[in-house]
Amino acid sequence: MKKITIAIDGFSSTGKSTVAKQLADWLEYVYVDSGAMYRAVTLYAMQQGLISEDHFDVDKLKGALNDITLEFRKNESGKAEIYLNGENVERAIRTLEVSEFVSPVSTISEVRAKLVEQQQQLGKGKGVVMDGRDIGTVVFPQAELKIFLNASARERAQRRYMELTQKGDKVTFEEVLENVTERDHIDSTRADSPLMKATDAIEIDNSEMNLEDQFHTILQLAKDRI
Ligand code: C5P
Repeated sequence: MKKITIAIDGFSSTGKSTVAKQLADWLEYVYVDSGAMYRAVTLYAMQQGLISEDHFDVDKLKGALNDITLEFRKNESGKAEIYLNGENVERAIRTLEVSEFVSPVSTISEVRAKLVEQQQQLGKGKGVVMDGRDIGTVVFPQAELKIFLNASARERAQRRYMELTQKGDKVTFEEVLENVTERDHIDSTRADSPLMKATDAIEIDNSEMNLEDQFHTILQLAKDRI
């Protein structure tokens, strides 16, 4: 069977990673969460004191990029987890604090260039499902299947709020809604690789769709191209 590249882009908390993982499992493809890479660089900047509520040392972060090594390693149940300089940060990158700083960090062209190169390497053999904001437009413009996921901001914030509170994070719905809206604004208006639907992407609004239907719809689109 022919192997293809599947790009899944869309706004924050549209469920990109859920469906991307389902597809990768079913097709026996590699799944790459590109957002985890931007989050890990952000965590590094936070740990080094380069970004906080009142300051962001962009030049120091640019200068430190060569000190950052990111890898995905599988855990015992086969799930890929991200490592920052040898340390598993899969959980540490999912906090609301990291979410608050990740979009400003993602506007930096040098950060993007480094991560896009690594993403292209990870997908160079095809047989990959990658989710993010610029996968169909910048990372894999030749991807055989491009999906652009969307849902209402309140629905997306509700899903994210449930996810965070189930993990025990102390957040309010309003904080999560504000973060989702703010990230979407920064991600869509930045100069380098703004979040946008590729002209050849198929847009799916999943506000009213269950996970099962969404998965089967996208799987069929993939099968049609294999
Ligand atoms: O996918 P996730 O919500 O974890 O991504 C976190 C942030 O990383 C996004 O809000 C965006 O700022 C950035 N990002 C990006 N390009 C990607 C993936 C994520 O700029 N391909």
